[in-house]
Amino acid sequence: MSYTINRGTPPQRADVENWLFGLDLVSTPVRERILTAWVSAWTSSTHERLEDMPYSNLAAYPLMRHVNEVTRVGVQLARSATEQWGDAFVMDTLVSILILHDVDKPLMYVRDNGAMAPSALSKELPHGVVGAMLLKELDFPHLVISTVATHAANAPFHGRSLEAYVLHYADFFATDRTCIREGATPFYQRHWR
Ligand SMILES: [Fe+2]
Ligand SMILES: [Fe+2]
Repeated sequence: MSYTINRGTPPQRADVENWLFGLDLVSTPVRERILTAWVSAWTSSTHERLEDMPYSNLAAYPLMRHVNEVTRVGVQLARSATEQWGDAFVMDTLVSILILHDVDKPLMYVRDNGAMAPSALSKELPHGVVGAMLLKELDFPHLVISTVATHAANAPFHGRSLEAYVLHYADFFATDRTCIREGATPFYQRHWR
């Protein structure tokens, strides 16, 4: 079993609601589905508290922080694109993509004697694809599902939409800052030749 759709208890939903930045930018039905998506991933994982959910097995950095960093940056990038280039975004769609892009991360890692180890599921399905499956079950729009499915750095390709473009730069802006903080080479300095 990879995950179970679970609305969770009112306290669990409140924990997720109190954590996530950007919920005030989406409509009520979308907000409820975002909460169910995160509660499902969290309660299907081996991580007891939201704070325990990992971002990667390298960085001891909470997923909670990464997700909000990406949403904040992504919303700012989209606003800038609108001001400068007249690009139009549907906030329900854009914010869903930003908030949910890493929704399967809790399922990709398990805690092993305090250290983070890849889960069995992560050897069966890639990061992004599991999240997309979960979002499909919750009836998110195709653009949200396809963008989450293909957002990872090692995905075979990335989406062509402006939403995928904004997510990419928001995600790597935040990720590279974590790399710098952790002493790892940030993506922008990695050159494959
Ligand atoms: Fe990701
Ligand atoms: Fe990410």
